[in-house]
Formats: sequence, structure tokens, C-alpha cells
Amino acid sequence: MSAQPASAFQRYDDRLAEPGPDEAALSAELDEVLLSICRQTWEDEGRALRAVHAKSHGLLAAEFEVPAGLPPELAQGLFSSPGRYDALLRFSTTPGDLLADRVSTPRGVALRICEVAGERLEGAESMRCQDFVMVNGPRFNAPDGRAFLRSLKLLARTTDRMERTKQAISLILRGTERALEALGGESAKLKAMGGEPPRHILGETFFTQLPLRHGDHIARLQLAPASPALRALADARLDLADDDAIRSAVVEYFAGHEAAWELRAQLCTSLDEMPVDDPTAEWDTGRSPFRTVAHVRARPQVAWSEARSRAVDDGVGFSPWHGLQAHRPLGEIMRLRRSAYAASQAFRAEKNGAALDTGCPFSVPR
Ligand code: HEM
Repeated sequence: MSAQPASAFQRYDDRLAEPGPDEAALSAELDEVLLSICRQTWEDEGRALRAVHAKSHGLLAAEFEVPAGLPPELAQGLFSSPGRYDALLRFSTTPGDLLADRVSTPRGVALRICEVAGERLEGAESMRCQDFVMVNGPRFNAPDGRAFLRSLKLLARTTDRMERTKQAISLILRGTERALEALGGESAKLKAMGGEPPRHILGETFFTQLPLRHGDHIARLQLAPASPALRALADARLDLADDDAIRSAVVEYFAGHEAAWELRAQLCTSLDEMPVDDPTAEWDTGRSPFRTVAHVRARPQVAWSEARSRAVDDGVGFSPWHGLQAHRPLGEIMRLRRSAYAASQAFRAEKNGAALDTGCPFSVPR
């Protein structure tokens, strides 16, 4: 049972989902820049890649379990009743080109929960999945859509060019980031430019960074390592000498280990202190901690193969907008993601000659 009354948590209101005045134009501009990245990598690779997060490092069949007995404020939407679902995890790094892992950039994970019942978001009416799309830092690196567009334009200009320069810059930035972290700070911008510390991707905690509706409430989510072997990787540093060092480490891990994560929700308790539309602001975990809403488990398996890559890298499109009304993405950046993901996915489907799968392309061994 919850120790806090429902009134302690901010209630969701449809007015929070209303778009700003110039969002449609900004969205079109953003899509165009993303598609320019897709076109560039298509020319270079002869294969259509995601506009960002093109490189995968682990493609896992998993199981998702909503436990019994969640308190009412957490037991919302997908989490309103206990259940077990097949799930899929795709680990990635941010660039839209397939760089050597020496260019150390933020890590991402896309989690798909399959065969979920409930009223769908607009555009997702024919789908049966709920996707949550996260990266390994609590805060987004731009204050608003305009600022994000500016940094994306820079990224687009350097896509698939100057790989050696990017590697050298990444090495310098990693040093700067280590110095910053030693002083107790960290810079999301430095990390996005290649200064990400070379940690094991399976030891990372991933965040939606931006809020979603959580049924009657509003939440940011986090996916955190829970099993001892995963938690032991939290501070493990990887030698990035090998081009695919991150992927090799994931494959090596799943050759002999299982893994368990917790999906946790941080509920908004006040819109003034936990704003929906300030992507760079961290919500105070002292006022509202991340609390477990589901368990994700994966058994030992071949965590990456060419066949899995064809099925998931080429054949699947994740999006925060693939899901339930009860988990509607909120805020300007989230709204911009709707057509951005759809544009990149339409490009991939057209060039690779196959419609994208909105289910789970490989079955989960139970
Ligand atoms: C306006 C802001 C954003 C834009 C325009 C954007 C755009 C995109 C696009 C176009 C894709 C590729 C879609 C595809 O072809 O399948 C993508 C993938 C991804 N994005 Fe974003 N994104 C944004 C913000 C974020 C945020 C806030 C996060 C996490 C906190 C995030 C995490 C990811 C991840 C993990 C993937 C890879 C998903 C996969 O494995 O398929 N993005 N993004």
C-alpha cells in the first residue's frame, strides 16, 4: 500500500498535451535534417540506417513482468494489473553513422513490450506494442526544440565524415569529462559530442529524460540494472580499441549470464518543481524517488548476430509514440519525436524494401 495519498501526485490533464504555436514548422525542419542524415548514410552504406542511434550493440529477447501489489498511483495504464509479456531490447549509441566505438557517445536502449492491451495513441491504432525509448543520462542535452535542431544540424554536417577526427576529439573529450566527473559535475553536451566515459553498456541506467503520462499521473521512467552480475558492471570500464568493443562485451556477457533490470517510475508531485517542459531539469529524487513498476529479464542468448541485426536494426522501428494513451509522451521535445521517428522509419522501410515490424520479431525463450 502507498504511504502517500493520491493528492500528493500531480494529476494528468489533457491541457498538458497541447502543442505550442510554431511546433509544426519546427517539426518539419527537424525531419528534413534527420532525413539528410539518412540519405547520407544510405549513399555511403547502401543500407538505410536510423537517422540517429544507427549502431546496435545488443538485440535481446526478454521478458517483462508487472508485479502484483503496486500502489494505486503506480498501478496505472500498462502497470494497472499484474502480467507477463514478451519483450525486446535494442542497445545502441547515438550517431546516425556506424562509427568505431572509440568515438564514445551516449548509450541508448529501446524497450518494446509486446501484445499490450489498451487504448492506443493516435497513429498507433493498429499496433499491439508499448515502446519506451531511453538513454543513459537523466537530462536531455538541449533546453528546447530549436536548440536541439541547431546541434542536430552540426551532427548532420559531420555524418560519415572525418571518422579519424571524431576519434581524436572523442579521446580529448573523454579526458575532459573524467576531470569534470572527478569534480562532481558532468556535462551532457560534452558526452553527446564524443566524451562519453567508456563504461560497459550493461552497467548503465537508462532514462526517458522527458515525461510521459502515467495514467492519472505523470512520470519519467528509468531502466536500472537489478541482478548482481549486471550491477557489478556499473563502474566497469571497457577498452574501446576494438571497433565493436561494446557489442563484443554484450555478446560475451550473454554467453554465460542472465540479466535482470527494474523499470522504475518517478512520479511528478508538482508542476512547478517538476516541470513537464524543461527537458534539462532533473526532477528531485528526494521529493519523488524512482519506484519499481516492472521487472525485465533476459536469459543467456546470442545477444547480437547478423540475423538479429537484419530483423531488428532493419526490420523494427521503435518510438515513444508506439503505445497506449495512458503513456502519452509529454512536452515539446516528445511531440517533435512523433513525426521524426516516423520519417526516419518510412525512409528505412522504403529503401530497405520491407515494412517495419510493430511486433516482436523473434520469440522469447521462456
Ligand atoms: C527532439 C528530440 C529527438 C528526436 C528528433 C529524435 C529522433 C530520433 C530518430 C529519428 C530516431 C531513429 C528512428 C528510427 O529510424 O527507428 C531515434 C532513435 C532513438 N532515440 Fe531519439 N530523438 C529525440 C530525442 C530522444 C530522447 C529524449 C531520447 C531518450 C531519452 C532518445 C533516444 C533514442 C534511442 C534510444 C533511439 C534508438 C531506438 C532504437 O533502438 O530503434 N531520443 N531518435
